[in-house]
Amino acid sequence: MGRMTHVLTALAWPYANGPRHIGHVAGFGVPADVFARYMRMRGHDVLMVSGTDEHGTPILVQADSEGLKAAEAAAKYNRIIVEDLDALGLSYDLFTRTTTGNHYKTVQELFTTLYGNGYILQKKTLGAISPSTGRTLPDRYIEGTCPHCGFDSARGDQCDNCGRQLDPTDLVDPKSRINGETPKFVEEDHFFLDLPAFADALNAWLDTRTGWRTNVVRFTKNLLDDLQPRPISRDLDWGVPIPLEGWVERPDKRLYVWFDAVIGYLSATIEWARRSGDPDAWQRWWQDPEAVSYYFMGKDNIVFHSEIWPAMLLGANGEGAGGGEPGALGRLNLPTEVVSSEFLTMEGKQFSSSRRVVIYVRDFLERYSPDALRYYICAAGPENQDSDFTWAEFLRRNNDELVAGWGNLVNRSIAMAAKNFGAVPEPGELEEVDRELLAATKAAFDAVGDLIGANKVRAGIGEAMKAVAAANKYLADTAPWKMKEDPKRQGTVLFTVLQAVSDLKTIMSPFLPHSSQRVHELLGGEGVFAPMPHIEEVADLDEGGATNGTYPILTGDYADVPKWESVPLAPGTPLAKPVPVFTKLEPSIVDEEIERLHS
Ligand code: MF3
Ligand code: ZN
Repeated sequence: MGRMTHVLTALAWPYANGPRHIGHVAGFGVPADVFARYMRMRGHDVLMVSGTDEHGTPILVQADSEGLKAAEAAAKYNRIIVEDLDALGLSYDLFTRTTTGNHYKTVQELFTTLYGNGYILQKKTLGAISPSTGRTLPDRYIEGTCPHCGFDSARGDQCDNCGRQLDPTDLVDPKSRINGETPKFVEEDHFFLDLPAFADALNAWLDTRTGWRTNVVRFTKNLLDDLQPRPISRDLDWGVPIPLEGWVERPDKRLYVWFDAVIGYLSATIEWARRSGDPDAWQRWWQDPEAVSYYFMGKDNIVFHSEIWPAMLLGANGEGAGGGEPGALGRLNLPTEVVSSEFLTMEGKQFSSSRRVVIYVRDFLERYSPDALRYYICAAGPENQDSDFTWAEFLRRNNDELVAGWGNLVNRSIAMAAKNFGAVPEPGELEEVDRELLAATKAAFDAVGDLIGANKVRAGIGEAMKAVAAANKYLADTAPWKMKEDPKRQGTVLFTVLQAVSDLKTIMSPFLPHSSQRVHELLGGEGVFAPMPHIEEVADLDEGGATNGTYPILTGDYADVPKWESVPLAPGTPLAKPVPVFTKLEPSIVDEEIERLHS
Protein backbone atom coordinates (compact mmCIF):
# COMPACT_ATOMS: atom_id res chain seq x y z
CA MET A 1 0.00 0.00 0.00
CA GLY A 2 1.39 3.37 -1.02
CA ARG A 3 1.43 6.56 1.04
CA MET A 4 -2.08 7.65 1.75
CA THR A 5 -4.78 5.32 0.63
CA HIS A 6 -8.52 5.18 1.02
CA VAL A 7 -9.22 2.14 3.14
CA LEU A 8 -12.76 0.85 3.43
CA THR A 9 -13.12 -1.24 6.57
CA ALA A 10 -16.35 -3.15 6.12
CA LEU A 11 -17.76 -5.15 9.01
CA ALA A 12 -20.45 -7.81 8.72
CA TRP A 13 -23.88 -6.47 9.62
CA PRO A 14 -25.20 -8.11 12.79
CA TYR A 15 -28.81 -9.31 12.65
CA ALA A 16 -31.11 -7.15 14.72
CA ASN A 17 -32.80 -10.21 16.18
CA GLY A 18 -31.27 -10.13 19.63
CA PRO A 19 -28.36 -8.78 21.61
CA ARG A 20 -24.95 -9.77 20.26
CA HIS A 21 -22.76 -12.22 22.15
CA ILE A 22 -19.01 -12.16 22.53
CA GLY A 23 -18.59 -14.67 19.70
CA HIS A 24 -20.00 -12.13 17.27
CA VAL A 25 -17.70 -9.31 18.26
CA ALA A 26 -14.76 -11.72 18.27
CA GLY A 27 -15.53 -12.55 14.65
CA PHE A 28 -16.26 -9.24 12.98
CA GLY A 29 -15.90 -6.48 15.55
CA VAL A 30 -12.64 -6.31 17.43
CA PRO A 31 -10.29 -7.55 14.66
CA ALA A 32 -11.70 -4.97 12.25
CA ASP A 33 -11.44 -2.17 14.78
CA VAL A 34 -7.79 -3.02 15.46
CA PHE A 35 -7.14 -2.83 11.72
CA ALA A 36 -9.04 0.44 11.21
CA ARG A 37 -7.39 2.16 14.16
CA TYR A 38 -3.95 1.11 13.01
CA MET A 39 -4.58 2.18 9.41
CA ARG A 40 -5.69 5.62 10.59
CA MET A 41 -2.51 5.96 12.65
CA ARG A 42 -0.54 5.19 9.50
CA GLY A 43 -2.15 8.19 7.89
CA HIS A 44 -4.64 6.38 5.68
CA ASP A 45 -8.11 7.69 5.01
CA VAL A 46 -10.13 4.97 6.68
CA LEU A 47 -13.87 4.60 6.49
CA MET A 48 -15.36 1.99 8.80
CA VAL A 49 -18.97 1.16 8.07
CA SER A 50 -21.67 -1.30 8.97
CA GLY A 51 -25.09 -1.44 10.58
CA THR A 52 -27.76 -3.81 11.73
CA ASP A 53 -29.13 -6.34 9.26
CA GLU A 54 -32.85 -6.02 9.79
CA HIS A 55 -34.73 -7.92 7.11
CA GLY A 56 -35.40 -11.54 6.48
CA THR A 57 -36.52 -14.49 8.45
CA PRO A 58 -34.27 -14.14 11.49
CA ILE A 59 -35.93 -10.85 12.40
CA LEU A 60 -39.44 -12.07 11.61
CA VAL A 61 -39.04 -15.16 13.75
CA GLN A 62 -37.83 -13.09 16.69
CA ALA A 63 -40.59 -10.51 16.24
CA ASP A 64 -43.21 -13.28 16.18
CA SER A 65 -41.86 -14.75 19.37
CA GLU A 66 -42.15 -11.41 21.16
CA GLY A 67 -45.49 -10.44 19.68
CA LEU A 68 -43.88 -7.46 17.96
CA LYS A 69 -44.04 -6.12 14.44
CA ALA A 70 -40.86 -6.75 12.48
CA ALA A 71 -40.02 -3.04 12.43
CA GLU A 72 -40.47 -2.81 16.20
CA ALA A 73 -38.25 -5.77 16.95
CA ALA A 74 -35.61 -4.48 14.55
CA ALA A 75 -35.64 -1.03 16.16
CA LYS A 76 -35.40 -2.52 19.63
CA TYR A 77 -32.36 -4.69 18.89
CA ASN A 78 -30.74 -2.09 16.66
CA ARG A 79 -30.53 0.19 19.67
CA ILE A 80 -29.18 -2.49 21.98
CA ILE A 81 -26.54 -3.49 19.46
CA VAL A 82 -25.53 0.13 18.87
CA GLU A 83 -25.04 0.63 22.61
CA ASP A 84 -22.97 -2.52 22.97
CA LEU A 85 -20.68 -1.79 20.04
CA ASP A 86 -20.22 1.72 21.40
CA ALA A 87 -19.29 0.38 24.83
CA LEU A 88 -16.69 -1.85 23.24
CA GLY A 89 -15.14 1.20 21.58
CA LEU A 90 -15.56 0.03 17.97
CA SER A 91 -14.64 3.11 15.98
CA TYR A 92 -17.28 3.09 13.24
CA ASP A 93 -17.48 6.12 11.02
CA LEU A 94 -21.04 5.04 10.49
CA PHE A 95 -23.01 2.20 11.98
CA THR A 96 -26.49 2.45 10.51
CA ARG A 97 -29.39 0.14 9.59
CA THR A 98 -30.70 -1.69 6.55
CA THR A 99 -34.14 -0.16 7.08
CA THR A 100 -33.16 3.40 6.12
CA GLY A 101 -34.68 5.10 3.10
CA ASN A 102 -31.17 5.63 1.75
CA HIS A 103 -30.49 1.89 1.92
CA TYR A 104 -33.74 1.00 0.14
CA LYS A 105 -32.92 3.47 -2.63
CA THR A 106 -29.38 2.18 -3.05
CA VAL A 107 -30.50 -1.45 -3.11
CA GLN A 108 -33.14 -0.73 -5.72
CA GLU A 109 -30.63 1.23 -7.77
CA LEU A 110 -28.24 -1.70 -7.82
CA PHE A 111 -31.02 -4.17 -8.62
CA THR A 112 -32.13 -1.99 -11.50
CA THR A 113 -28.59 -1.80 -12.88
CA LEU A 114 -28.10 -5.56 -12.60
CA TYR A 115 -31.46 -6.14 -14.20
CA GLY A 116 -30.70 -3.71 -17.01
CA ASN A 117 -27.41 -5.47 -17.67
CA GLY A 118 -29.25 -8.78 -17.95
CA TYR A 119 -27.85 -10.46 -14.86
CA ILE A 120 -31.15 -11.01 -13.12
CA LEU A 121 -33.26 -13.85 -14.44
CA GLN A 122 -36.95 -14.34 -13.87
CA LYS A 123 -37.81 -18.00 -13.43
CA LYS A 124 -40.60 -20.21 -12.22
CA THR A 125 -39.89 -22.00 -8.96
CA LEU A 126 -41.90 -23.90 -6.44
CA GLY A 127 -43.33 -21.79 -3.66
CA ALA A 128 -45.32 -23.03 -0.70
CA ILE A 129 -48.95 -22.14 -0.12
CA SER A 130 -51.24 -23.14 2.69
CA PRO A 131 -53.88 -25.53 1.25
CA SER A 132 -56.49 -24.37 3.78
CA THR A 133 -56.14 -20.62 3.16
CA GLY A 134 -54.65 -20.56 -0.32
CA ARG A 135 -52.16 -17.94 0.88
CA THR A 136 -48.40 -17.94 0.45
CA LEU A 137 -46.66 -19.64 3.33
CA PRO A 138 -43.49 -17.74 4.19
CA ASP A 139 -40.33 -19.84 4.36
CA ARG A 140 -39.93 -19.43 8.08
CA TYR A 141 -43.34 -20.97 8.74
CA ILE A 142 -42.31 -24.22 7.15
CA GLU A 143 -40.54 -26.76 9.26
CA GLY A 144 -39.20 -30.18 8.47
CA THR A 145 -36.21 -32.46 8.62
CA CYS A 146 -32.89 -31.15 7.35
CA PRO A 147 -31.74 -33.20 4.34
CA HIS A 148 -28.10 -32.65 5.36
CA CYS A 149 -27.98 -33.41 9.07
CA GLY A 150 -31.34 -34.94 9.89
CA PHE A 151 -32.26 -32.21 12.40
CA ASP A 152 -36.04 -32.46 12.75
CA SER A 153 -36.92 -28.78 13.24
CA ALA A 154 -35.07 -27.18 10.35
CA ARG A 155 -36.83 -24.14 8.87
CA GLY A 156 -37.65 -23.50 5.25
CA ASP A 157 -34.78 -21.03 4.94
CA GLN A 158 -32.06 -22.59 7.01
CA CYS A 159 -31.15 -25.34 9.43
CA ASP A 160 -30.25 -24.05 12.86
CA ASN A 161 -28.42 -27.24 13.65
CA CYS A 162 -25.93 -27.46 10.77
CA GLY A 163 -26.30 -23.86 9.62
CA ARG A 164 -26.94 -24.69 5.96
CA GLN A 165 -29.14 -22.48 3.80
CA LEU A 166 -32.24 -24.32 2.65
CA ASP A 167 -35.22 -23.91 0.43
CA PRO A 168 -38.60 -25.12 1.67
CA THR A 169 -38.58 -27.81 -1.01
CA ASP A 170 -35.34 -29.22 0.44
CA LEU A 171 -37.04 -30.20 3.68
CA VAL A 172 -37.99 -33.80 4.27
CA ASP A 173 -41.61 -34.01 5.41
CA PRO A 174 -42.35 -30.25 5.39
CA LYS A 175 -45.13 -28.99 7.68
CA SER A 176 -46.69 -25.61 8.33
CA ARG A 177 -45.72 -24.31 11.73
CA ILE A 178 -49.02 -22.45 11.89
CA ASN A 179 -51.39 -25.39 11.70
CA GLY A 180 -49.31 -28.48 10.97
CA GLU A 181 -50.71 -29.05 7.50
CA THR A 182 -48.47 -30.12 4.64
CA PRO A 183 -47.85 -27.13 2.38
CA LYS A 184 -48.72 -27.31 -1.26
CA PHE A 185 -45.96 -26.29 -3.65
CA VAL A 186 -47.04 -24.25 -6.67
CA GLU A 187 -45.12 -22.62 -9.47
CA GLU A 188 -44.37 -18.96 -8.96
CA ASP A 189 -42.12 -16.36 -10.53
CA HIS A 190 -38.94 -15.47 -8.72
CA PHE A 191 -35.77 -13.57 -9.48
CA PHE A 192 -32.33 -15.12 -9.67
CA LEU A 193 -28.87 -13.68 -9.81
CA ASP A 194 -27.20 -15.25 -12.83
CA LEU A 195 -24.04 -16.41 -11.05
CA PRO A 196 -22.76 -18.62 -13.90
CA ALA A 197 -22.37 -15.43 -15.97
CA PHE A 198 -19.67 -14.33 -13.53
CA ALA A 199 -17.65 -17.56 -13.39
CA ASP A 200 -14.79 -16.32 -15.57
CA ALA A 201 -14.70 -12.83 -14.12
CA LEU A 202 -14.81 -14.12 -10.54
CA ASN A 203 -12.03 -16.62 -11.19
CA ALA A 204 -9.88 -13.97 -12.84
CA TRP A 205 -10.48 -11.61 -9.94
CA LEU A 206 -9.71 -14.27 -7.35
CA ASP A 207 -6.44 -15.07 -9.12
CA THR A 208 -5.30 -11.49 -8.58
CA ARG A 209 -5.95 -11.61 -4.82
CA THR A 210 -2.94 -11.89 -2.56
CA GLY A 211 -2.53 -12.34 1.17
CA TRP A 212 -5.93 -13.92 1.78
CA ARG A 213 -6.23 -16.48 4.54
CA THR A 214 -6.09 -19.99 3.20
CA ASN A 215 -9.51 -20.88 4.60
CA VAL A 216 -11.15 -18.14 2.54
CA VAL A 217 -9.24 -18.88 -0.67
CA ARG A 218 -9.93 -22.60 -0.48
CA PHE A 219 -13.58 -22.12 0.33
CA THR A 220 -14.07 -19.56 -2.45
CA LYS A 221 -12.31 -21.67 -5.09
CA ASN A 222 -14.67 -24.51 -4.26
CA LEU A 223 -17.67 -22.25 -4.59
CA LEU A 224 -16.58 -21.04 -8.00
CA ASP A 225 -16.41 -24.60 -9.28
CA ASP A 226 -20.14 -24.93 -9.16
CA LEU A 227 -22.08 -21.73 -9.76
CA GLN A 228 -25.84 -21.90 -10.10
CA PRO A 229 -28.36 -19.07 -10.48
CA ARG A 230 -29.21 -17.91 -6.97
CA PRO A 231 -32.69 -16.83 -5.86
CA ILE A 232 -32.78 -13.20 -4.72
CA SER A 233 -36.50 -12.75 -4.11
CA ARG A 234 -38.58 -14.27 -1.34
CA ASP A 235 -42.14 -14.87 -0.29
CA LEU A 236 -42.07 -12.31 2.47
CA ASP A 237 -43.76 -9.09 3.47
CA TRP A 238 -40.67 -7.65 5.16
CA GLY A 239 -37.74 -6.40 3.13
CA VAL A 240 -36.85 -4.14 0.24
CA PRO A 241 -39.58 -4.11 -2.45
CA ILE A 242 -38.60 -5.36 -5.90
CA PRO A 243 -38.27 -2.27 -8.11
CA LEU A 244 -40.05 -3.55 -11.20
CA GLU A 245 -43.44 -2.77 -12.57
CA GLY A 246 -46.00 -5.21 -11.29
CA TRP A 247 -43.74 -6.20 -8.42
CA VAL A 248 -42.94 -3.10 -6.43
CA GLU A 249 -46.48 -2.82 -5.04
CA ARG A 250 -46.82 -6.48 -4.14
CA PRO A 251 -47.03 -6.96 -0.38
CA ASP A 252 -45.90 -10.59 -0.49
CA LYS A 253 -42.65 -10.40 -2.46
CA ARG A 254 -39.42 -8.86 -1.27
CA LEU A 255 -35.75 -8.99 -2.10
CA TYR A 256 -33.85 -11.67 -0.25
CA VAL A 257 -32.22 -10.35 2.92
CA TRP A 258 -28.68 -11.20 1.83
CA PHE A 259 -29.12 -9.38 -1.47
CA ASP A 260 -29.97 -6.18 0.36
CA ALA A 261 -27.58 -6.61 3.29
CA VAL A 262 -24.33 -6.76 1.31
CA ILE A 263 -25.34 -3.61 -0.54
CA GLY A 264 -25.25 -2.02 2.92
CA TYR A 265 -21.52 -1.50 2.60
CA LEU A 266 -22.16 0.83 -0.31
CA SER A 267 -25.32 2.46 1.04
CA ALA A 268 -23.69 3.12 4.43
CA THR A 269 -20.77 4.82 2.70
CA ILE A 270 -23.23 6.95 0.75
CA GLU A 271 -25.16 7.77 3.91
CA TRP A 272 -21.94 8.73 5.68
CA ALA A 273 -21.01 11.03 2.77
CA ARG A 274 -24.42 12.66 2.74
CA ARG A 275 -24.24 13.28 6.48
CA SER A 276 -20.70 14.65 6.16
CA GLY A 277 -21.92 17.43 3.89
CA ASP A 278 -20.00 16.14 0.87
CA PRO A 279 -22.46 13.77 -0.82
CA ASP A 280 -19.97 12.59 -3.44
CA ALA A 281 -17.28 11.70 -0.91
CA TRP A 282 -18.34 8.02 -0.98
CA GLN A 283 -16.79 7.69 -4.43
CA ARG A 284 -13.29 7.92 -2.98
CA TRP A 285 -13.70 4.48 -1.39
CA TRP A 286 -15.67 2.88 -4.20
CA GLN A 287 -14.48 4.31 -7.49
CA ASP A 288 -10.85 5.29 -6.94
CA PRO A 289 -8.85 2.37 -8.41
CA GLU A 290 -6.21 2.91 -5.70
CA ALA A 291 -8.69 2.51 -2.87
CA VAL A 292 -8.67 -0.74 -0.92
CA SER A 293 -11.44 -2.54 0.94
CA TYR A 294 -11.28 -5.12 3.71
CA TYR A 295 -14.33 -7.10 4.75
CA PHE A 296 -14.48 -8.69 8.20
CA MET A 297 -16.81 -11.51 9.18
CA GLY A 298 -17.26 -14.98 10.63
CA LYS A 299 -16.75 -17.97 8.36
CA ASP A 300 -20.45 -18.61 7.82
CA ASN A 301 -20.52 -15.35 5.83
CA ILE A 302 -17.70 -16.06 3.39
CA VAL A 303 -19.88 -17.07 0.45
CA PHE A 304 -21.75 -13.78 0.49
CA HIS A 305 -18.58 -11.71 0.53
CA SER A 306 -16.23 -13.64 -1.71
CA GLU A 307 -18.74 -14.84 -4.29
CA ILE A 308 -22.14 -13.15 -4.26
CA TRP A 309 -21.19 -9.55 -3.47
CA PRO A 310 -18.30 -9.54 -5.96
CA ALA A 311 -20.66 -11.04 -8.55
CA MET A 312 -23.22 -8.32 -7.87
CA LEU A 313 -20.53 -5.67 -8.25
CA LEU A 314 -19.24 -7.20 -11.48
CA GLY A 315 -22.77 -7.28 -12.83
CA ALA A 316 -23.44 -3.69 -11.84
CA ASN A 317 -20.20 -2.72 -13.57
CA GLY A 318 -21.21 -4.59 -16.73
CA GLU A 319 -18.25 -6.93 -16.30
CA GLY A 320 -19.88 -10.35 -16.45
CA ALA A 321 -20.09 -12.61 -19.51
CA GLY A 322 -23.08 -10.65 -20.78
CA GLY A 323 -21.31 -7.29 -20.73
CA GLY A 324 -23.30 -4.15 -19.96
CA GLU A 325 -22.71 -0.67 -18.62
CA PRO A 326 -22.11 0.73 -15.15
CA GLY A 327 -25.28 2.23 -13.71
CA ALA A 328 -25.91 5.56 -12.02
CA LEU A 329 -23.38 4.76 -9.29
CA GLY A 330 -20.55 4.25 -11.76
CA ARG A 331 -17.93 1.54 -11.75
CA LEU A 332 -17.56 0.08 -8.25
CA ASN A 333 -14.54 -1.56 -6.64
CA LEU A 334 -14.55 -5.23 -5.75
CA PRO A 335 -13.23 -6.33 -2.32
CA THR A 336 -9.49 -6.19 -1.84
CA GLU A 337 -9.62 -8.81 0.85
CA VAL A 338 -12.21 -10.94 2.57
CA VAL A 339 -10.95 -11.47 6.11
CA SER A 340 -12.84 -14.26 7.77
CA SER A 341 -12.45 -15.58 11.27
CA GLU A 342 -13.41 -18.98 12.56
CA PHE A 343 -15.83 -19.62 15.41
CA LEU A 344 -15.52 -18.87 19.09
CA THR A 345 -16.98 -21.59 21.27
CA MET A 346 -17.70 -21.24 24.94
CA GLU A 347 -16.59 -23.73 27.55
CA GLY A 348 -16.33 -26.18 24.66
CA LYS A 349 -19.79 -25.57 23.22
CA GLN A 350 -21.20 -23.62 20.27
CA PHE A 351 -22.80 -20.35 21.29
CA SER A 352 -26.55 -20.62 21.18
CA SER A 353 -29.07 -18.17 22.57
CA SER A 354 -31.79 -20.78 22.61
CA ARG A 355 -29.75 -23.30 24.58
CA ARG A 356 -28.44 -20.47 26.76
CA VAL A 357 -24.83 -21.20 25.94
CA VAL A 358 -24.20 -17.53 25.58
CA ILE A 359 -22.39 -14.54 27.04
CA TYR A 360 -23.88 -11.30 25.82
CA VAL A 361 -21.57 -8.35 25.23
CA ARG A 362 -23.77 -6.26 27.50
CA ASP A 363 -23.57 -8.67 30.45
CA PHE A 364 -19.86 -9.02 29.98
CA LEU A 365 -19.26 -5.28 29.99
CA GLU A 366 -21.39 -4.81 33.09
CA ARG A 367 -18.83 -6.80 35.04
CA TYR A 368 -15.55 -6.39 33.17
CA SER A 369 -13.82 -3.66 31.24
CA PRO A 370 -14.00 -3.39 27.45
CA ASP A 371 -10.23 -3.71 27.15
CA ALA A 372 -10.25 -6.92 29.19
CA LEU A 373 -12.57 -8.40 26.57
CA ARG A 374 -10.65 -6.86 23.69
CA TYR A 375 -7.42 -8.29 25.07
CA TYR A 376 -8.88 -11.77 25.26
CA ILE A 377 -10.25 -11.56 21.73
CA CYS A 378 -6.99 -10.17 20.32
CA ALA A 379 -4.77 -12.66 22.11
CA ALA A 380 -6.93 -15.77 21.97
CA GLY A 381 -9.66 -15.12 19.41
CA PRO A 382 -10.67 -17.46 16.57
CA GLU A 383 -8.41 -15.88 13.97
CA ASN A 384 -7.24 -18.93 12.04
CA GLN A 385 -8.98 -21.74 13.85
CA ASP A 386 -11.91 -22.17 16.17
CA SER A 387 -11.01 -21.09 19.66
CA ASP A 388 -12.67 -21.63 22.98
CA PHE A 389 -13.62 -18.99 25.50
CA THR A 390 -13.40 -20.24 29.05
CA TRP A 391 -13.73 -18.17 32.18
CA ALA A 392 -10.62 -19.80 33.61
CA GLU A 393 -8.62 -18.72 30.59
CA PHE A 394 -10.15 -15.26 30.71
CA LEU A 395 -9.06 -14.97 34.35
CA ARG A 396 -5.56 -16.16 33.52
CA ARG A 397 -5.13 -13.87 30.53
CA ASN A 398 -6.45 -10.91 32.47
CA ASN A 399 -4.49 -11.42 35.66
CA ASP A 400 -1.24 -12.96 34.45
CA GLU A 401 -0.84 -11.11 31.15
CA LEU A 402 -2.80 -7.88 31.09
CA VAL A 403 -2.54 -6.90 34.77
CA ALA A 404 0.81 -8.53 35.62
CA GLY A 405 2.40 -7.55 32.33
CA TRP A 406 1.23 -4.30 30.79
CA GLY A 407 -0.67 -2.96 33.82
CA ASN A 408 2.19 -3.64 36.17
CA LEU A 409 4.71 -1.96 33.89
CA VAL A 410 2.57 1.18 33.70
CA ASN A 411 1.93 1.31 37.43
CA ARG A 412 5.41 0.57 38.67
CA SER A 413 7.18 2.96 36.35
CA ILE A 414 4.82 5.91 36.70
CA ALA A 415 4.42 5.45 40.47
CA MET A 416 8.17 5.36 41.01
CA ALA A 417 8.80 8.40 38.85
CA ALA A 418 5.93 10.33 40.47
CA LYS A 419 7.17 9.51 43.96
CA ASN A 420 10.83 10.30 43.37
CA PHE A 421 10.63 13.11 40.85
CA GLY A 422 7.01 14.25 40.61
CA ALA A 423 7.57 14.53 36.88
CA VAL A 424 9.17 12.82 33.92
CA PRO A 425 12.82 12.90 35.04
CA GLU A 426 15.61 14.55 33.07
CA PRO A 427 17.80 11.72 31.78
CA GLY A 428 21.57 11.71 32.14
CA GLU A 429 23.82 9.93 29.69
CA LEU A 430 22.16 6.75 28.39
CA GLU A 431 23.89 3.43 28.95
CA GLU A 432 23.89 0.44 26.66
CA VAL A 433 20.93 -1.25 28.43
CA ASP A 434 18.89 1.93 28.12
CA ARG A 435 19.58 2.29 24.43
CA GLU A 436 18.77 -1.37 23.92
CA LEU A 437 15.38 -1.04 25.52
CA LEU A 438 14.52 2.09 23.55
CA ALA A 439 15.64 0.47 20.31
CA ALA A 440 13.63 -2.68 21.02
CA THR A 441 10.49 -0.69 21.75
CA LYS A 442 10.95 1.39 18.63
CA ALA A 443 11.44 -1.75 16.57
CA ALA A 444 8.12 -3.02 17.86
CA PHE A 445 6.30 -0.35 15.82
CA ASP A 446 7.27 -2.04 12.57
CA ALA A 447 6.91 -5.58 13.85
CA VAL A 448 3.46 -5.07 15.38
CA GLY A 449 2.29 -2.74 12.61
CA ASP A 450 3.17 -5.16 9.83
CA LEU A 451 1.25 -7.90 11.60
CA ILE A 452 -1.86 -5.77 12.11
CA GLY A 453 -1.66 -4.61 8.50
CA ALA A 454 -1.72 -8.27 7.49
CA ASN A 455 -4.64 -8.91 9.86
CA LYS A 456 -2.57 -11.10 12.15
CA VAL A 457 -3.95 -9.63 15.33
CA ARG A 458 -2.98 -12.53 17.57
CA ALA A 459 0.64 -12.39 16.50
CA GLY A 460 0.50 -8.59 16.62
CA ILE A 461 -0.54 -8.38 20.24
CA GLY A 462 1.88 -11.18 21.07
CA GLU A 463 4.70 -9.08 19.65
CA ALA A 464 3.50 -6.04 21.60
CA MET A 465 3.42 -8.08 24.80
CA LYS A 466 6.99 -9.19 24.12
CA ALA A 467 8.01 -5.55 24.08
CA VAL A 468 6.13 -5.10 27.38
CA ALA A 469 8.00 -8.06 28.83
CA ALA A 470 11.31 -6.57 27.71
CA ALA A 471 10.48 -3.33 29.53
CA ASN A 472 9.49 -5.24 32.65
CA LYS A 473 12.75 -7.16 32.48
CA TYR A 474 14.66 -3.92 32.09
CA LEU A 475 13.05 -2.64 35.28
CA ALA A 476 13.88 -5.85 37.12
CA ASP A 477 17.48 -5.85 35.85
CA THR A 478 18.22 -2.19 36.51
CA ALA A 479 16.20 -2.08 39.79
CA PRO A 480 15.81 1.72 39.99
CA TRP A 481 14.20 1.37 43.45
CA LYS A 482 17.68 0.51 44.76
CA MET A 483 19.22 3.71 43.37
CA LYS A 484 18.42 6.10 46.24
CA GLU A 485 22.09 7.08 46.36
CA ASP A 486 22.33 7.79 42.66
CA PRO A 487 19.35 9.99 41.67
CA LYS A 488 20.93 10.85 38.34
CA ARG A 489 21.09 7.20 37.26
CA GLN A 490 17.67 6.57 38.76
CA GLY A 491 16.27 9.45 36.72
CA THR A 492 17.85 8.08 33.58
CA VAL A 493 16.44 4.61 34.12
CA LEU A 494 12.97 5.93 34.93
CA PHE A 495 13.05 8.26 31.97
CA THR A 496 14.01 5.32 29.76
CA VAL A 497 11.25 3.07 30.99
CA LEU A 498 8.67 5.89 30.78
CA GLN A 499 9.70 6.51 27.18
CA ALA A 500 9.13 2.82 26.53
CA VAL A 501 5.74 2.96 28.25
CA SER A 502 4.81 5.97 26.17
CA ASP A 503 5.70 4.15 22.97
CA LEU A 504 3.89 1.06 24.13
CA LYS A 505 0.68 2.95 24.80
CA THR A 506 0.78 3.94 21.12
CA ILE A 507 1.49 0.38 20.01
CA MET A 508 -1.26 -0.97 22.28
CA SER A 509 -3.85 1.59 21.26
CA PRO A 510 -5.39 -0.26 18.29
CA PHE A 511 -5.94 -3.30 20.53
CA LEU A 512 -6.67 -1.60 23.86
CA PRO A 513 -7.79 1.98 23.13
CA HIS A 514 -9.50 2.70 26.45
CA SER A 515 -6.45 1.92 28.54
CA SER A 516 -4.07 3.63 26.11
CA GLN A 517 -6.08 6.79 26.57
CA ARG A 518 -5.63 6.47 30.34
CA VAL A 519 -1.91 5.80 30.08
CA HIS A 520 -1.65 8.88 27.90
CA GLU A 521 -3.31 10.90 30.67
CA LEU A 522 -1.19 9.31 33.40
CA LEU A 523 1.89 10.42 31.50
CA GLY A 524 0.62 13.97 31.58
CA GLY A 525 -0.85 13.96 28.08
CA GLU A 526 -3.92 15.98 27.25
CA GLY A 527 -6.81 15.62 24.86
CA VAL A 528 -7.95 12.61 22.90
CA PHE A 529 -5.33 9.97 22.28
CA ALA A 530 -7.46 7.00 21.22
CA PRO A 531 -10.72 8.39 19.84
CA MET A 532 -13.98 6.72 20.74
CA PRO A 533 -17.26 6.42 18.86
CA HIS A 534 -20.43 7.99 20.16
CA ILE A 535 -24.15 7.57 19.58
CA GLU A 536 -26.19 10.21 17.77
CA GLU A 537 -29.92 10.29 17.15
CA VAL A 538 -30.47 11.20 13.51
CA ALA A 539 -33.36 11.66 11.14
CA ASP A 540 -33.73 9.26 8.24
CA LEU A 541 -32.49 11.07 5.13
CA ASP A 542 -35.19 9.66 2.86
CA GLU A 543 -38.71 8.41 2.81
CA GLY A 544 -39.50 4.89 1.83
CA GLY A 545 -37.61 2.87 4.41
CA ALA A 546 -38.86 1.33 7.64
CA THR A 547 -37.07 3.23 10.40
CA ASN A 548 -39.91 5.28 11.75
CA GLY A 549 -38.09 8.51 10.95
CA THR A 550 -35.25 8.61 13.47
CA TYR A 551 -32.67 6.16 14.71
CA PRO A 552 -29.38 6.00 16.58
CA ILE A 553 -26.13 5.84 14.65
CA LEU A 554 -22.61 5.21 15.82
CA THR A 555 -20.10 7.67 14.50
CA GLY A 556 -17.01 9.52 15.61
CA ASP A 557 -14.29 11.96 14.80
CA TYR A 558 -11.10 10.05 14.21
CA ALA A 559 -9.25 12.60 12.12
CA ASP A 560 -6.67 13.60 14.73
CA VAL A 561 -5.25 10.25 15.69
CA PRO A 562 -1.63 10.08 16.80
CA LYS A 563 0.89 8.79 14.29
CA TRP A 564 2.20 5.25 14.47
CA GLU A 565 5.63 6.28 15.70
CA SER A 566 7.70 6.97 18.78
CA VAL A 567 7.20 10.45 20.21
CA PRO A 568 9.92 11.80 22.55
CA LEU A 569 8.68 12.23 26.10
CA ALA A 570 9.27 15.72 27.51
CA PRO A 571 11.27 15.71 30.76
CA GLY A 572 9.59 17.86 33.39
CA THR A 573 6.02 16.82 32.47
CA PRO A 574 4.26 16.55 35.86
CA LEU A 575 3.24 13.05 36.98
CA ALA A 576 0.71 12.11 39.61
CA LYS A 577 0.50 8.83 41.51
CA PRO A 578 -1.25 6.54 39.03
CA VAL A 579 -4.51 4.74 39.57
CA PRO A 580 -4.41 1.16 38.28
CA VAL A 581 -5.37 0.93 34.62
CA PHE A 582 -6.55 -2.69 34.76
CA THR A 583 -8.38 -4.65 37.42
CA LYS A 584 -7.09 -7.89 38.85
CA LEU A 585 -9.96 -10.37 39.07
CA GLU A 586 -10.76 -12.76 41.90
CA PRO A 587 -10.42 -16.43 40.99
CA SER A 588 -13.94 -16.91 42.36
CA ILE A 589 -15.38 -15.25 39.24
CA VAL A 590 -14.78 -18.48 37.32
CA ASP A 591 -17.25 -20.48 39.40
CA GLU A 592 -19.65 -17.56 39.65
CA GLU A 593 -19.77 -17.12 35.89
CA ILE A 594 -20.16 -20.82 35.18
CA GLU A 595 -22.94 -20.90 37.77
CA ARG A 596 -24.62 -17.97 36.03
CA LEU A 597 -24.51 -19.81 32.72
CA HIS A 598 -26.42 -22.71 34.14
CA SER A 599 -28.97 -20.69 36.08
N1 MF3 B 1 -26.51 -10.63 9.36
C1 MF3 B 1 -25.53 -11.55 8.87
C2 MF3 B 1 -25.09 -12.48 9.99
O1 MF3 B 1 -25.20 -12.10 11.13
C3 MF3 B 1 -24.33 -10.86 8.32
C4 MF3 B 1 -24.65 -9.96 7.18
S1 MF3 B 1 -23.25 -9.28 6.54
C5 MF3 B 1 -23.83 -8.34 5.25
O2 MF3 B 1 -24.63 -13.57 9.71
F1 MF3 B 1 -22.92 -7.79 4.69
F2 MF3 B 1 -24.45 -9.06 4.41
F3 MF3 B 1 -24.62 -7.49 5.73
ZN1 ZN C 1 -29.03 -29.40 9.11
